[in-house]
Amino acid sequence: MAVDKAADKANSMWGGRFADRPDAIMEEINASIGFDRRLASQDIRGSLAHAAMLASVGILSESDHRAVSQGLEEIGEEIERGAFVFRRDLEDIHMNIESRLREKIGDAAGRLHTARSRNDQVALDFRLWVKEQCAEAEAALGRLAAALLDQAEAGAALVMPGFTHLQVAQPVTWGHHMLAYVEMFRRDAARFADARARMDECPLGAAALAGTGFAIDRDMTAAALGFARPTANSIDSVSARDFALEFLSAASICATHLSRLSEEIVIWSSAQFAFITLSDKFTTGSSIMPQKKNPDAAELTRAKVGRIVGSLVTLMTVMKGLPLAYSKDMQEDKEPVFDAADALALALAAMTGMVADMRPNEARLREAAAQGFSTATDLADWLVRELGMPFRDAHHVTGTLVKMAEDRGCDLDALTLSDMQGVEPRITQAVFDVLSVEASVRSRVSYGGTAPVRVAEMVAMRRNEA
Ligand code: ARG
Repeated sequence: MAVDKAADKANSMWGGRFADRPDAIMEEINASIGFDRRLASQDIRGSLAHAAMLASVGILSESDHRAVSQGLEEIGEEIERGAFVFRRDLEDIHMNIESRLREKIGDAAGRLHTARSRNDQVALDFRLWVKEQCAEAEAALGRLAAALLDQAEAGAALVMPGFTHLQVAQPVTWGHHMLAYVEMFRRDAARFADARARMDECPLGAAALAGTGFAIDRDMTAAALGFARPTANSIDSVSARDFALEFLSAASICATHLSRLSEEIVIWSSAQFAFITLSDKFTTGSSIMPQKKNPDAAELTRAKVGRIVGSLVTLMTVMKGLPLAYSKDMQEDKEPVFDAADALALALAAMTGMVADMRPNEARLREAAAQGFSTATDLADWLVRELGMPFRDAHHVTGTLVKMAEDRGCDLDALTLSDMQGVEPRITQAVFDVLSVEASVRSRVSYGGTAPVRVAEMVAMRRNEA
């Protein structure tokens, strides 16, 4: 859609006081229509609710109300059809729509702005938009969690290495590892829901900053626009952008989680790990190396955190030190939020697709799980449980046996009973029962632990809550 740069008058919206046209650079720095056109539907909804309220309290006549409503509906359709001409000389979405309304219905359009200012208008539009984005993010996170739960269910008993310091630590189950991400993404969704509940207050009616002398009904507009209540302080209503900061904070934490899972997918899909196979749908080939299958979607999802956290820092920095109430600085609030919301939606969708499509390589995972003396803790626990050894002593005995296996280049369960008894004579054949990776994960039945039975229970529990 073209933005018409030519202004015919000094300023069609407040020409009264202005004799001269703005400088071209002024127009360029001042105009927000290039991006705030994304708020068109919120702006029209807000104006429809405001007009209905003005009519209901007798400020707007019934015939003017009808003309305004019909005009606004038509403008909404024009915008949807792509037939609307956005004009940069009209600065922003609010004045573009009002000006078009005047073209369509004449002077009655001028009555719509009674008891309203662009300050409460933009605060409303932006809040409606961010609130919707919170709900979208919650839904997208629900879809991602569902994909992870499917993986967790299918791989509840599948053994893989658990890492600390990216060194093999203890065997865990694939399902348990998937559930770790389910927990993160559930908290992310809860953060968006919390933010959404806190921003569920309608700023319309604050007018420029002080409220209005007109007998408006703020409860009516709040209810019509789906808010729980009107905001309680008119100055705060037009000054606050912490609702957007909360959205960006929740988005930043979520993007951090997405980047961690992305990183694991990149590592797991490498030839060296070969823990998973990614589908062709989420990989690319190389223009020169025919053998390559690159995890581009995971890499890009890993990178999105950059622009999302960047957006948070941008808006934090814009808002810092701003005196009350509205300042034009706040027009810079929209682009970072739009960009972060788009990036997050894309990253969540890509991750959901990758998770649904990735296939764990069972044989390789099991083999890797057994490497690195991953059941050493199980051996130490056995010494404590069966021989009544203090854990520190058991740790020492186990360390000696690990060293022996390491020197021989074999796994712990390849040592013989007499090797073991050479270090601790009371060890019996039964110790071999805990040295397999399957026995190790089966034994970890504590609540929230990695045992297949616990994983299966947790999958069912999280599914029921969804
Ligand atoms: N385009 C403006 C913004 O995005 C709308 C509010 C303008 N208010 C004002 N007092 N100039 O912030």
